[in-house]
Amino acid sequence: MLTLKPARLTKPLDFSDVKRKKAFLGYITSKVREKAIAQIPDEHGVLVDIATGNGLFLVDIQHRYHHSYKLIGLDLRYPLLKEAQQISKTNIIKNLEWINGDAFYLPIRTNGVSIIFCLNTFLNIKTFDEVKAILKELVRITKPGGKIVFDIRNRSNILIYMKYFLHSFQNTFTTSSYSIAQFNCIMEEVGTELINVDAVGLRNKLFAWDFIITLQKQEVK
Ligand SMILES: C[S@@+](CC[C@H](N)C(=O)[O-])C[C@H]1O[C@@H](n2cnc3c(N)ncnc32)[C@H](O)[C@@H]1O
Repeated sequence: MLTLKPARLTKPLDFSDVKRKKAFLGYITSKVREKAIAQIPDEHGVLVDIATGNGLFLVDIQHRYHHSYKLIGLDLRYPLLKEAQQISKTNIIKNLEWINGDAFYLPIRTNGVSIIFCLNTFLNIKTFDEVKAILKELVRITKPGGKIVFDIRNRSNILIYMKYFLHSFQNTFTTSSYSIAQFNCIMEEVGTELINVDAVGLRNKLFAWDFIITLQKQEVK
């Protein structure tokens, strides 16, 4: 895992430029970003955050940790990337690169990325077929042996399931929950192995809010 910078050097981040605080600084959303950092090995290479939003995951890594990765954030929505730039500037965070692109058709070469994240995003992807299509793109750009880290809101948690089910009647944006079993079924098809599952909230299949899932891309035989 990455080494934390000494606490005296890391004053709290200034979030005053975050426009939708309820969406980006909510409890589960923040916990997912915080816990996912544990999946980063202390190595080097390219780390890409797909659907980075306003970039808070990369800003936090750069702010709190010593590391040797090149950090790139990609999002479909240009205004969110401008917000990411502003948050970085306010917090004097440097060396982050932003790409405006679509997770379904990534403008990134095959087999080049050491570790990929896609956090708090599959909850907004309507069908499992679409999730699978994105996953295949993430696997394409990952190096053989590299990691793909994403999370799902836990469909087996009745509160999460009901919350998202009821939300689907409000014609705003999609909210979907998924189960680990659905991903287990497609590991061979997408060319990965499931190597870790971490719970957000209680470590229990019925009560966890969210699962952070880590896959490893198969090595070429
Ligand atoms: C709930 S936000 C999560 C942002 C960030 N990952 C985080 O954890 O704070 C979901 C993000 O997915 C992005 N997104 C949705 N569909 C996308 C696509 N097809 N390609 C790239 N980004 C997409 C949205 O623009 C939004 O920024």
